[in-house]
Amino acid sequence: MAAAVALRDGRLAVLPTETVYGLGARADMPRAVARIYAAKGRPADHPLIVHVAHASYLPEWGHPVPSYATALARAFWPGPLTLVVPRTARAGDFITGGQDTIAVRVSSHPGLQGVLRHLAAMIGDPAVGIAAPSANRFGQVSPTTAGHALDELADVLDPDDVLLDGGPCEVGVESTIVDCTGTAPVVLRPGQVTAGAIERAANVRMGHSSPVRTPGTLPSHYAPSARVIITSPQELADRATLRTDASVGVIALADIATPPGLVRLSEPVTSDDYARVLYAALREADALRLTEVLAVPPPRDGVGAAVLDRLTRAAT
Ligand code: TXA
Ligand code: MG
Repeated sequence: MAAAVALRDGRLAVLPTETVYGLGARADMPRAVARIYAAKGRPADHPLIVHVAHASYLPEWGHPVPSYATALARAFWPGPLTLVVPRTARAGDFITGGQDTIAVRVSSHPGLQGVLRHLAAMIGDPAVGIAAPSANRFGQVSPTTAGHALDELADVLDPDDVLLDGGPCEVGVESTIVDCTGTAPVVLRPGQVTAGAIERAANVRMGHSSPVRTPGTLPSHYAPSARVIITSPQELADRATLRTDASVGVIALADIATPPGLVRLSEPVTSDDYARVLYAALREADALRLTEVLAVPPPRDGVGAAVLDRLTRAAT
């Protein structure tokens, strides 16, 4: 398998996950990991998520793992959840940005799982990790197809690096990140796994403040060139009576009509659909050279909170 061989030999691999595409390197190879930062233009103090094959390898990377974190791993892995725990010696400074914690995730994507299995077998280390941030340039929209990842990174990858096309991502927004370093879990970045689902699965109450720094969750992030404006169905309808403008795009659930003259970028039927198509719609806005995107967020339950979070960052 080409991606596993490339990683084994210290090269980079663009890899599918169920959330967004990642740009991966062996998590035990400082020079390979350094190339991730160079390719993305990512500041060195922004730590990376380490992807492992199975929940049983969490203690290899993190210690101590509180019992609620073990419960969350059991409930949601493989899946779109990342756990931040105190790090072990396996997690080098070159991954954690010098922090004393490590972010760990087990992806459900069969492509990434296959790569991890092959890599583990080739090097004889079942707990091997692949460090992978989203496969976009720093501050840009995360890619949800292999083509979008290439659009982001083709200029900066080497001929020896590998891309594994695993089809469009099913979730479409990045994993939920949970700080598991305190007595109660705290959500650092919302995703498809909601705070309510976390409380039910681990039978704990959510904590509200966290000492953990999450440098990547800047107020302005995931931003296309077009200006993103969060709007209500009523404001959207009023817009049509003011002017029709073919340089303005619309993202809204399918039951919300497109005002005459505006460009419909997507019409997802459910909140899950909305999350799945959001980043492709923002890319489409730039491809069409639109100047503005009017986005009506979906209801805030389920993945809706994560969609609103990303729209808010795109709008900042
Ligand atoms: O769904 C995802 O999580 C995707 C796929 C590829 O797995 N990955 C992803 O990685 O979104 P990235 O690097 O784009 O975002 C990871 C976020 C960053 O905001 C980073 O600061 C934060 O996780 N992070 C990583 N390690 C951390 C740590 N030890 N403590 C706090 N935040 C951490
Ligand atoms: Mg990212």
